[in-house]
Amino acid sequence: MKLVLEIVISSLCFVYLLQLTSSANNVKDDKLNSDWSYCFEFTWFGPDYDNSTQYNGTCADYLEETRGKGIPCSPPIVITYNGTFPDVEYLWQHHKKSVVCRRGSGQVCARYAYYYNGAMKNATFMCTKVQVVGEEAVRSGCYNQKVRDYEVEVCVCESGKGPFKPCNIFS
Ligand SMILES: *[C@@H]1O[C@H](CO)[C@@H](O)[C@H](O)[C@H]1NC(C)=O
Ligand SMILES: *[C@@H]1O[C@H](CO)[C@@H](O)[C@H](O)[C@H]1NC(C)=O
Ligand SMILES: *[C@@H]1O[C@H](CO)[C@@H](O)[C@H](O)[C@H]1NC(C)=O
Ligand SMILES: *[C@@H]1O[C@H](CO)[C@@H](O)[C@H](O)[C@H]1NC(C)=O
Repeated sequence: MKLVLEIVISSLCFVYLLQLTSSANNVKDDKLNSDWSYCFEFTWFGPDYDNSTQYNGTCADYLEETRGKGIPCSPPIVITYNGTFPDVEYLWQHHKKSVVCRRGSGQVCARYAYYYNGAMKNATFMCTKVQVVGEEAVRSGCYNQKVRDYEVEVCVCESGKGPFKPCNIFS
């Protein structure tokens, strides 16, 4: 599955156009390879979803239902019992293979998050390319943009090689 999205990022003086391409380099081996670099890859559905309001569709179902054009969603979908942000340490210890992607050459690790009134609404973690149109590829840092009532933030980093906890949690 290939996901291409474009977001317009405005700062004080510039308008950036970022292009993100999702990876789908899913990890199939049992062990993480020490020659490769990994990013977290999953989508947290946010505080509106918990044990009483589960969702059993896929990212594709979700995007179709919400007509979510240009909205990132990378499986697996993560929903927590009480709607709080997932315990990443637990995911890393117990579901390592499911929540990481192998970072391809030219890719970075990204967290794409929606905020409302300063609180995180949902977040997608992925291996992706982030390109500022007309400029170099983005390899680190956070970029913010207002989208209707929401603040959208894209943060990128590059995990080092090896079976270590990826960098794109930013907490
Ligand atoms: C994240 O929240 C925004 C704003 O409510 C919504 O448009 C988007 O579909 C959500 N994304 C996911 C993956 O839930
Ligand atoms: C969840 O999946 C079951 C079958 O596995 C289906 O019957 C049900 O309608 C689904 N619920 C939602 C909310 O999509
Ligand atoms: C959901 O989880 C809460 C604790 O976080 C628990 O009190 C409640 O009984 C659970 N509800 C269901 C339907 O499992
Ligand atoms: C939500 O659940 C997590 C893990 O079970 C727990 O650590 C946390 O304290 C809970 N938060 C609230 C607000 O209940």
